[in-house]
Amino acid sequence: MAKLYGKITGWGAYAPPRIVTNHDLEATLDTSHDWIVQRTGIHARHVADANETTSTMAVKASWSALAKAGIPSTELDLILVATSSPDYFTPPVSSMVQSMLGAHDVPAMTIVTGCTGFVYALVTAYQFIETGVYRNILVVGVELLSRFVNWEERSVSVLFGDAAGAVVVQPTAEPCGLEGFVLGSDGSNGQHIIMPAGGSARPFSEDVLQEGSHYLQMNGREVFKFATRVIGPSCDEALRLAGKSMADVDWIIPHQANLRIIQAAARDMDIPLDRWIVNIDQYANTSAASIPLALAESLESGRVKPTDTLLLVSFGAGMTWASAVLQMQPS
Ligand code: UT7
Repeated sequence: MAKLYGKITGWGAYAPPRIVTNHDLEATLDTSHDWIVQRTGIHARHVADANETTSTMAVKASWSALAKAGIPSTELDLILVATSSPDYFTPPVSSMVQSMLGAHDVPAMTIVTGCTGFVYALVTAYQFIETGVYRNILVVGVELLSRFVNWEERSVSVLFGDAAGAVVVQPTAEPCGLEGFVLGSDGSNGQHIIMPAGGSARPFSEDVLQEGSHYLQMNGREVFKFATRVIGPSCDEALRLAGKSMADVDWIIPHQANLRIIQAAARDMDIPLDRWIVNIDQYANTSAASIPLALAESLESGRVKPTDTLLLVSFGAGMTWASAVLQMQPS
């Protein structure tokens, strides 16, 4: 059998229309636009209204990606949804998305690795494409974290936004696709990004509600240090596996957690900031949605071309990290 490569034939993104600026937050929180911009680079975030859920946002991005790829949802062979903020613990949001897309009986799974979820899911999709097991795979990164943060507590709530991004991966005989990747996990430091209650370790209760320990908590400084430690080496290793160097990369698309993290990585890796795709100012940290959102947006604007060599790099809850050297389409 001829070697199979994966080609990204469709992409799409969705962010809820309601924009909450830093100035809006100043009205309800002891925070300031200047603090948020200086510490994070965030100016605004999109926040879902009550009529939206994780699955409805995922489906909107998915329809765009399917339309671009020119395939009906009934032709899908696999659906992968990366999220840490699903509609329910169970049923899996991936099955909800499958049903809402009318993709009858198509296998679907949710990948829960925090902010790295989309890259983990994309790498998984490529394994099924390259082995010829499946032909049409939808990969979604979606997050509705505004429902999981405590809006009365400033340290976490100002950082996150809601969004979804999706791509369709299909096989081709022409060389392109996932050229090298690194996935990693260090569960010994998992406490740095945690929702302490609501799971089996500490089921929901009156006490949990009183304490607010069902909300997302983050040790920002530790996560910051972790991120700046893993980005460079995981990019270097993905490039080594791809047999490429940084000079071959057209664009780096990093997880959008904090502009200062991106600036520090750019400095450490000696790659000018204008080769990094950055949109955190308008969307804040959308966790598993941040890379597919930045990818779809920069493809739509024409800044990134599907034949460009991309380096995706992400880090987050787990702690996990993920990087991938990717050429979406053959040159
Ligand atoms: O996607 C998942 C991965 N997540 C990340 O990558 C996040 C990584 N970490 C970060 O981005 C940064 O650590 C933060 C933006 C979360 C925080 O920035 P920092 O420079 O590490 O600030 P800090 O946590 O050390 O807090 C500095 C001060 C504190 O006051 P004191 O104790 O120095 O008096 C905080 O209480 O800033 C205060 N503070 C705020 N002030 C105004 C914390 N949040 C706010 C706020 N507005 N929203």
